[in-house]
Amino acid sequence: MERLQKVIARAGLASRRKAEQLILDGKVQVNGQTVKELGTKVSNNDKVTVNGVPIDKEPLVYYLFYKPTGVISSVKDDRNRTTVVDFFKHVPERIFPVGRLDYDTSGALLLTNDGELANRLMHPSFEFDKTYIANVTPIPTNDQLRQLAMGIRLEDGMTAKARVQLLASDKEKKTASVQMTIHEGRNRQVRRMFSALHLHVRKLKRERYGFLSLNGLHPGESRELKPHEVKTLMHNTRST
Ligand code: URA
Repeated sequence: MERLQKVIARAGLASRRKAEQLILDGKVQVNGQTVKELGTKVSNNDKVTVNGVPIDKEPLVYYLFYKPTGVISSVKDDRNRTTVVDFFKHVPERIFPVGRLDYDTSGALLLTNDGELANRLMHPSFEFDKTYIANVTPIPTNDQLRQLAMGIRLEDGMTAKARVQLLASDKEKKTASVQMTIHEGRNRQVRRMFSALHLHVRKLKRERYGFLSLNGLHPGESRELKPHEVKTLMHNTRST
């Protein structure tokens, strides 16, 4: 749901302030009813007209991006660092990332202009499985791997059960590659889970976001989701 004045402004019809005036002047209808309250929220399904003319809404777009390291997961950065949307200059829609990956983390990130779906995807009750590959040092013991899987006490509480697998280890370098699937999305969660066991994450990559994998993409590349993938996301996040 979005504020009516924002939807009108986004359609390119007026500035946000002018859109508010149009609403106050009784020029805006939602589903045929004149609306004069500025706080009114509308969804993608609501029919908005200004002076009786339907507004052109931005088409909803969905991209899977292979975020490289050294890129900020936001729309703007006050320190002028490269952000994920800098990779989408060719896209006219105002897209934003769904959730975030750390500056130092690479991997699968969804970007869209569909605020409703983004909110649903980020809501704890719909948190998707996310699979990470962490390169850590030193090599975790079997007991540490079990602890990661069972739950780790962090300062914001116990983590939920996770699927954890040791993929490879290098005894000389004292490093290991560990695959971990979690469904929570707490800030720096994977790094903090390892750190709680005195394991240092040297590299972190998100391999999968729900059913979406990085197959076929290189760092910095993206692809539009296929219609059936969008449908599946909507279906999987629908409240019962
Ligand atoms: N966990 C982390 O520690 N960092 C990320 O970017 C994502 C999950």
